[in-house]
Amino acid sequence: MNDNIQPFTPGGAPAARADVEQLKAYSAPLEGRRNMLRLDFNENTIGPSPLVAQALRGFSTEEIAVYPEYDGLREAVVRNLMEGGCRERLNPDQVGLFNGADAAIHAVFQAYGDAGDCVLTTAPTFGYYTPCARTQGMTIEAIPYEGETFAFPLAAIQEALTRLSPRLLLICNPNNPTGTRLAPEQIIAMAASAPDTLLVVDELYAAFTGDSVLPLVDFAETPNLLVLQSLSKTAGLAALRIGFAVGHAAVIDRVGRVTGPYDVNSVAVAAAFAALADQSYVDAYVAEVLRARDWTVEALQQAGVRHHCDGGNYLLIWPRKPVAEVDAALRGEGILIRSMAGKPLIDGCFRVSIGTTSQMQRFMEAYLRLDP
Ligand SMILES: Cc1ncc(COP(=O)(O)O)c(C=O)c1O
Repeated sequence: MNDNIQPFTPGGAPAARADVEQLKAYSAPLEGRRNMLRLDFNENTIGPSPLVAQALRGFSTEEIAVYPEYDGLREAVVRNLMEGGCRERLNPDQVGLFNGADAAIHAVFQAYGDAGDCVLTTAPTFGYYTPCARTQGMTIEAIPYEGETFAFPLAAIQEALTRLSPRLLLICNPNNPTGTRLAPEQIIAMAASAPDTLLVVDELYAAFTGDSVLPLVDFAETPNLLVLQSLSKTAGLAALRIGFAVGHAAVIDRVGRVTGPYDVNSVAVAAAFAALADQSYVDAYVAEVLRARDWTVEALQQAGVRHHCDGGNYLLIWPRKPVAEVDAALRGEGILIRSMAGKPLIDGCFRVSIGTTSQMQRFMEAYLRLDP
C-alpha cells in the first residue's frame, strides 16, 4: 500500500485501494435539468424515434421481472453498421454491448490497463478517460491540441507513440470539446504502426462528421483498433444507457470479460432494437443539427463573438463577461450550457450543444442579450 494512505478513512470506514483513495469522483452537473433547453451534454434535443416510445409502451411486466436477453441485438447492430457502409463483413462477435459508451471505456481500461502502464491521449478531451486510467494506476500522457484551431497534434502523438509504446491510445474523433477531426486513414495508419498499443477511437459524434473508421478498416489487418459508438447522442437514448464497441473478436471478448452478464438492461435493449430500425429518423436529426450549426456560426460571426466550431453537435464560445456569470444568466432563462472552466487551452469559454434551428435561435437571442 502507498505510504500516504491510511488503512481507514477519517470516518473510520476501511480505506479503498490506494488509487481509488486518491481519485476525485467524476461528477457532472446533472441535476435540475428538466424543462430546460439542455445544450450542456451534447444530447439529442428532441428525443428518439416514435418507434422507441412505441416499443417502450409495449414493455410487459413479465419482461421487467426477468433478466435481459440479448438475442439478435448484436446482429441488428451489425446490419445497421453494414448499411452505414462498413468495409468488413462484421460478425456479431465483433460487437460488444455496454451500459453506455462510458461502460465500454471503463471496461477497456479494466481489461487492458495495468498499474504503471501508460495511456496516451490528447488534451482537452472527454473527461471520463482520466478517472478510468487513474483507477488502474496508469500514467497519463496527454498531448495538447495545437494552435488557435486546436489542430490534432499528429506529429507529437506519433512521436509519443514510438517513444512510450503506450498500452492504450485514446482518440476522440471528432474530439469533445474542441470538435477536432482526424482523417480515419490517419487513425488506421497509426494503429498499424503501433501493434502493441490498443488504439481506441471514440466515435460518439462521428455521425456529425462522417469520419468513422468503419468504412475503411479491416480488423483482421488492424486487430489493435477498437471503435466506440453509442445510441446516446444521435438516436436520443442517453437515459437508457446503451453503447457499442466494435473491433476484432478477441478484443471484444477481453473487454466483455470484465463486464457483468446483465449490465445492459432490457428496456435499453428494446429501445435499441427500435432505434436501430429507424435510421432515417437519426439521419434527419443529424441533418437538422448540421443546418442549425451553420445558422449558429453565421449568427456568431455577424455578432463578432469569438467562437470555435469544427466537428460534432457542439461549439465553443468565449463570452465577453466571465463564463460563470453567463452560465448563471442563461440558466435563469431556462437554457443550459457547459462551462469549460479549468480545462487546458479553453479555460474561460463554454461549450454549447447544437439542437434544432429554432432551439439555437432561442439560445442566440438570449445569449446576445445577456452578454452584449
Ligand atoms: C466523447 C464521449 N465519449 C463517450 C461518452 C459517453 O457516452 P454514453 O452516453 O454512451 O455513455 C460521451 C458522453 O458525453 C462523450 O462525449
